[in-house]
Amino acid sequence: VRKYVHNLQSYPQINQIVEGYRQNELIALPTETVYGLGANAKDEQAVKKIYIAKGRPSDNPLIIHIHDKSQLNDFTQNISKEAEILMDAFWPGPISFIVPYKKGFLSDRVTGGLNSVAVRMPSHIIGREILQLTNLPIAAPSANVSGRPSPTKFEHVKHDLEGRIFGIIQAEDVDEGIESTVIDCTSFPFKIARPGSITTEMINDALPNSVVNEKMDIEKPIAPGMKYKHYAPSQPVTLVEGGITKPIKSSVYKDERIAVIGPKSIESLISEEMIFIPLGKNAKDIKGAHHDLYDALRIADQLIDIDKILISGYIRNESTVALMNRIDKASGHNIKGEDEL
Ligand code: TXA
Ligand code: MG
Repeated sequence: VRKYVHNLQSYPQINQIVEGYRQNELIALPTETVYGLGANAKDEQAVKKIYIAKGRPSDNPLIIHIHDKSQLNDFTQNISKEAEILMDAFWPGPISFIVPYKKGFLSDRVTGGLNSVAVRMPSHIIGREILQLTNLPIAAPSANVSGRPSPTKFEHVKHDLEGRIFGIIQAEDVDEGIESTVIDCTSFPFKIARPGSITTEMINDALPNSVVNEKMDIEKPIAPGMKYKHYAPSQPVTLVEGGITKPIKSSVYKDERIAVIGPKSIESLISEEMIFIPLGKNAKDIKGAHHDLYDALRIADQLIDIDKILISGYIRNESTVALMNRIDKASGHNIKGEDEL
């Protein structure tokens, strides 16, 4: 169900927004996955500003956002027919394609010196309308300061970037809550460079055997961004797998003050002196967990007077790959079994 019924053409500041992008300013915009920090990808200075505002390492390339496939001809070449089949199957939507880069049209800064470029056509009604009205390729990383969780609410963007950028387009909370799937289409079969809500299974359903599901190598990530520490609150975070009842009890025994992040359904385990931040409706509500996770991590980060944060793990399967990837990172890969705490 779409909550966004705005007609941007009548949005009071729309001219200012479009003009801002054309003048190479930074403007955060909503997408269905997370808010993006948008800038004209053709302009060297505009793209440079993104890296400065976010404090982002310059070897970490950006995703180019488009509203129409015809824009691809300007800055990509030799896109395979398999990649095109998948674009047609999933766009507009939460998946980015890494394809061969054609130099000349975009600032080379967006690719961080690679000969490939990531591109995505978002489905968010406001995000798309902005892309249409500017008719520019918009480079947009997540609109957070580097190292913090991606923003899923207008307030998150404001908190991280107010005063550092030209503007933020205010919309409702995002639909999805985790960043797009990134699929590397520079060789066949394709590889998942970053898991997202579009799963390997969904991609292989759309085009059989187009993705190989290799175990992701943490030391040698395909997407440069995957190597950086991410989303981690300032207090120590432990990911607990295989049941959280015992660890909660043992923290009571040890007199530790804890915050617990986990599916709403474990609420009954939580005693009064603990803080509970729920994800989704229950342990099967993976979409809900995607939606709530980054806000939960931001809330947890602001708690004072707690000793540690426990995150309740989800059963690892095809549908939880993306969720557990983000939780693994938030815990700094500090993963414990239920008897280890
Ligand atoms: O959902 C999303 O993808 C959001 C919204 C705003 O569209 N954007 C986003 O961008 O998450 P960012 O910059 O936070 O993450 C982009 C990821 C990084 O891990 C980066 O290393 C990878 O994509 N990436 C970009 N271009 C690449 C390339 N040519 N080769 C390999 N990885 C690339
Ligand atoms: Mg990011």
